[in-house]
Amino acid sequence: MSFAGAAAIEGSLEIAGARGGDLTTAIYTRLFAEFPETEALFVMDRDGQVRGAMLAHVFETIFDFIGERRYAHRFIGAEIVTHDGYGVDSGAFAAFFGVVRDEVRSACGSAWTDAMEEAWQGLLSDFETYTARPVS
Ligand code: HEM
Repeated sequence: MSFAGAAAIEGSLEIAGARGGDLTTAIYTRLFAEFPETEALFVMDRDGQVRGAMLAHVFETIFDFIGERRYAHRFIGAEIVTHDGYGVDSGAFAAFFGVVRDEVRSACGSAWTDAMEEAWQGLLSDFETYTARPVS
């Protein structure tokens, strides 16, 4: 299965990386502003390693989903269950992908295109089908 907007998503991530550098701090700042209740979950993560590892998994999941799609859908399903154990409900879990999109868009600035907007919108709605119900 291939994802129609794969090139636009990849392009946006490349530009965001080139313009914005490491987006980790910006993404978590946005997450904690929009979902203040999630900040306390990371109090033990003093050096930011867990946040960095989690975000790396999120990007890998996106790349797998728009590419070979070897595991992304199952991984999302499994992580929803794991995160439920951390006290993260599936709505907040799903919203994280939107937070990433918003920060990528902001880092791209004037280089953000309609094709990128459409591709990310498609990706987020596809993810919703996995986050809205348990994945077998
Ligand atoms: C608002 C959304 C989210 C919140 C609040 C959240 C919260 C957390 C927390 C608190 C941990 C650390 C657990 C611990 O070690 O005690 C964690 C780890 C992790 N999260 Fe999330 N998460 C969110 C979304 C996601 C998403 C969308 C993914 C992937 C698709 C993901 C993947 C992971 C992974 C793989 C780890 C383990 C990282 C490691 O230590 O290697 N999370 N998350």
